[in-house]
Amino acid sequence: MRSIFIAMAALAASLQWSPSAALAAGSLNLICSADVVICELMKDNFEKNTGIQVNMVRLSSGETYAKIRAEARNPKTDIWWAGTGDPHLQAASEGLTQEYKSPLLDQLHDWARKQAESAGFRTVGVYAGALGWGYNTDIFAKKELKEPKCWADLLDSSYKGEIQIANPNSSGTAYTALASLVQIMGEDQAFDYLKKLNANVSQYTKSGSAPVKAAARGETAIGIVFLHDAVAQKVEGFPVQIVAPCEGTGYEIGSMSIIKGARNLENARKWYDWALSGEAQSLMREAKSFQLPSNRNATVPPEAPKFENIKLIDYDFTKYGDPTVRKQLLERWDREIGANAN
Ligand code: G6P
Repeated sequence: MRSIFIAMAALAASLQWSPSAALAAGSLNLICSADVVICELMKDNFEKNTGIQVNMVRLSSGETYAKIRAEARNPKTDIWWAGTGDPHLQAASEGLTQEYKSPLLDQLHDWARKQAESAGFRTVGVYAGALGWGYNTDIFAKKELKEPKCWADLLDSSYKGEIQIANPNSSGTAYTALASLVQIMGEDQAFDYLKKLNANVSQYTKSGSAPVKAAARGETAIGIVFLHDAVAQKVEGFPVQIVAPCEGTGYEIGSMSIIKGARNLENARKWYDWALSGEAQSLMREAKSFQLPSNRNATVPPEAPKFENIKLIDYDFTKYGDPTVRKQLLERWDREIGANAN
């Protein structure tokens, strides 16, 4: 018995952990809108570094925005890490998140700092990723399909029932796609395009990366997603080919925000500073998360899609993160696309 106790004490000491230290460090309620593997890795590393206990849930970006809004009077979340920037900007502009100027802002790329400045420091950029699609090369070979290189190609009737994309209400990825198409084509033409695309879409998923996971596993031929999510499947060994559309494409500034009324504010700030550090952002590769990190000192994964090789549009984050614009586009999507989904 005594030896078990000594062994446990030694283990606790080696982990620099004790029940009283954990109690003193307190807890943190986190919503994570990135892939669940990086969410878990971030949580585990933060807990190990600080002794703070993290209660984490993974929700898509649009879902998180809706939850934070619904809980505004009685916030249950302290911090929202990751997910596309538009709903973070909407939350900032509706006063659902609070200002914080991290001492690490100086270490960030301009695009991440600009995201913070444009929102009165109620949000900040943590990574960037460009939109495109991944397709299953085995299915393509078997069905003798031609590689779709452009948005326009996806309308070809040979892809009927072969495409998946998420629902832009729940998913920030799909909202980025919607807003990108509006910026590339103009709003009416983009909705016309989406109506035609609907004929080829078999499913609008809840989470943004689900379509390429399905494509990787042969459940669909094409998944419209962020390119780094397609890279993750390819790196896992699945037969996935990655395409950045020829007409140009939009991108996300994955963001982070502290919730207004956060009960564990000090711990939320600790997470915020840590998540902006080069050290934390260099963890992404370990979880096969291949976005571009926002800290200039973080290691950029060699697998990360190279922005200089992708035709990127000048995505207007201020406009498409504006509450009126986002709400109007989503309502129109519900009326004209969602209501007629297969
Ligand atoms: C994936 C991507 C992230 C992105 C997130 C958005 O996890 O790797 O870069 O921010 O999707 O998720 P959502 O489910 O809201 O589209």
